Amino acid sequence: MASTILSSRSLARKAARNIQFDFLAPSTISASRQPSRFQSSSPPHDGATLPPKSTPSKTPIHTLTTQQKAFLSSALRVNQTGELAAILIYAAQSPILTRSHPHLRTLMKHMYEQEAGHFAYFNGVLSRHRIRPTAMYPVWYAAASFLGWGTAMMGREAAMACTEAVETEIGTHYNEQVGVLLDWARKCGERGEGLGPELDGLVGELRRIRDEELEHLDHAVENDAKSAKPYELLTEVIRGGCRGAIWVSERV
Ligand SMILES: [Fe+2]
Ligand SMILES: [Fe+2]
Repeated sequence: MASTILSSRSLARKAARNIQFDFLAPSTISASRQPSRFQSSSPPHDGATLPPKSTPSKTPIHTLTTQQKAFLSSALRVNQTGELAAILIYAAQSPILTRSHPHLRTLMKHMYEQEAGHFAYFNGVLSRHRIRPTAMYPVWYAAASFLGWGTAMMGREAAMACTEAVETEIGTHYNEQVGVLLDWARKCGERGEGLGPELDGLVGELRRIRDEELEHLDHAVENDAKSAKPYELLTEVIRGGCRGAIWVSERV
């Protein structure tokens, strides 16, 4: 991969002017017109020894390879789909759960609103970089709504087990992306390059969102997810479904 990266600093600087805010669709967005909206805010939980340093303004910015662009494109497409599914699951669960367990109203609203924020963020990223959503969108829409409704009908514990299972998979998915981007940042640093402000910001956003997903996981466990019956079967089926949906959405 390293062999495909531009080695000339002057070329890198020139490329940086063009791709600084446009790491996937270089011809569509002007860096001078579009300031970065990304900011890092959360501590790392991904085993990295150090967060990526923000790229100083005079550091040459790495030009993404074709493989790196493809990785980002499929990963971000999955992220958007996963956040849509999360919204639909909570939207289907909340009315049923809060009718019989009113004390869950605040928690369900809090988690729903965080998912809505994640979805809006990835919608913006996909739109700006012209990444297509998954073609399976209607299928995941129906499946997520059914999953939310079905687990809520099974009871509070099953609904929480659903959250635990989904967040375990999606938290792992985000963590892997952060790991890949940190590896890119490390290799760039060894060459005296940076990822650029947009990708630096993306790492920060992925960390923040991942930490919020893991917070949802903790809420689910605190609310008796492990008392669901049958817990093992339910969570394994849901986790398998999530992994399948991620695999398909990366490709289709
Ligand atoms: Fe989310
Ligand atoms: Fe979540």
